[in-house]
Amino acid sequence: MLKNKLYIKTWGCQMNEYDSSKIADIMKNELNCQITKSVQKANILLLNTCSIREKAQEKLFHQLGRWKLLKKNNPDIIIGVGGCVASQEGKKILKRAYYIDIIFGPQTFHRLPKMIYNARKFKKYLIDISFPKIEKFKFFPLSKTKKTSAFVTIIEGCNKYCTYCIVPYTRGKELSRSYKDIILEIKNLVSQGVKEIHLLGQNVNAYKYFDKKTNQYYTFEKLLELIAQIKEIKRIRFTTNHPKNFTDELINIYNKIPQLVNFLHLPVQSGSDKILNLMKRQYNIEKYKQIIKKLKNVRPLIQISSDFIVGFPGEDQKDFNDTISLILDLDLDMSFSFIYSPRPGTPASKMKDNTNILEKKKRLYLLQYYIKKQTKKFSFKMINTIQLILVEGLSLQNHKFYGKTENNRIVFFTSSKNYIGKFVNVKIIDANIYSLYGEFISLHKM
Ligand code: SAH
Ligand code: SF4
Ligand code: F3S
Repeated sequence: MLKNKLYIKTWGCQMNEYDSSKIADIMKNELNCQITKSVQKANILLLNTCSIREKAQEKLFHQLGRWKLLKKNNPDIIIGVGGCVASQEGKKILKRAYYIDIIFGPQTFHRLPKMIYNARKFKKYLIDISFPKIEKFKFFPLSKTKKTSAFVTIIEGCNKYCTYCIVPYTRGKELSRSYKDIILEIKNLVSQGVKEIHLLGQNVNAYKYFDKKTNQYYTFEKLLELIAQIKEIKRIRFTTNHPKNFTDELINIYNKIPQLVNFLHLPVQSGSDKILNLMKRQYNIEKYKQIIKKLKNVRPLIQISSDFIVGFPGEDQKDFNDTISLILDLDLDMSFSFIYSPRPGTPASKMKDNTNILEKKKRLYLLQYYIKKQTKKFSFKMINTIQLILVEGLSLQNHKFYGKTENNRIVFFTSSKNYIGKFVNVKIIDANIYSLYGEFISLHKM
């Protein structure tokens, strides 16, 4: 019998990473697939794509062009394209890449084993980019892991329709996963040594699951309380959040759950109300500032990171200056920033845009200069402090152990003993912008 060897390439967000890990689990389980890191050794090649910004299509066809050559030498190879570009473009992909076998969407990858079987049997391409309701989660086998920190998706899709964004069209409507499935998945991870859980969703704080049995809604706050009851979980992170759903109840939960880290990614996109309005973000700067203020009342040391889009249609110098002021006023930490990219079919792509690309690049450069300065400030402040680190592994590059601090910085440190999977206290002795260097002080009992 043909031995299945799977190679997966993943682009895009953490949810795509999570999806790819689930694809691997399903393929191992149902097709007895071996996962390989070598594309030359594989006979099933899958590409999990992202379409959040421009050039997604170009990147896709470039990659497929290389795989076409492999298929020429071995016609038995199956090539599948999934993720958000597949969802957005569907059958159109075949026009430029007639040799691919399967097109699947973010909500249909659990059907891959069957699609692969049929593609082989009928020697015909197959497309399934539909949005079956939350069905895929039911097909996830329990994962095997050696990690100490693990991602768990709790909510899919998005209903917000920000005017620039492709996600609601590619990932579909907001759908919350059953809290029971989430807890089951976390308990399985915990039984294998996971101590930190990173909850994922386009907007995790929009989580709302209706339990027919108890006739009750489970909100994000309630879910956090359930997770916090699992005593092996020492740290809880979550991304991404929407300010509109950042309620006082969620802020107060920080008082009740010490496992919630003192670090929050809360995308604001712009410091100008005019632009937020054009983006249809559904909050204003005052509301965003209030959230941070209230959070800092509960957790004075919490650090906030954010996402920014520069050069949105209509953004003038004043709007841009307001964004820089916001970063400094709120003392934001290591944020992501992008030049606005018109996405096909979105309302913003039809808006009048008077700013030329050179000016946009100049703004991005300046924005990143300030963000970097902020990030560096926070990192350098940590020199000579003792930080609690969950040890994740041994770096092959510098032969030092590494792990993350509560505020999401990677620390490389020396230690005569292997503490992978444990919490340790490390003295920070040096820093650069995003990573820190230190020495082992003591094992932390938790
Ligand atoms: N749901 C999250 C964002 C997910 S997309 C939220 O609402 O905050 C991740 C980031 O990509 C966004 O925060 C935004 O900064 C960026 N992004 C999304 N669409 C974009 C576009 N068309 N052009 C440039 N950046 C974009
Ligand atoms: Fe996109 Fe807005 Fe939804 Fe975030 S909230 S995924 S930016 S539409
Ligand atoms: Fe990209 Fe889709 Fe994620 S567009 S950012 S892979 S939700």
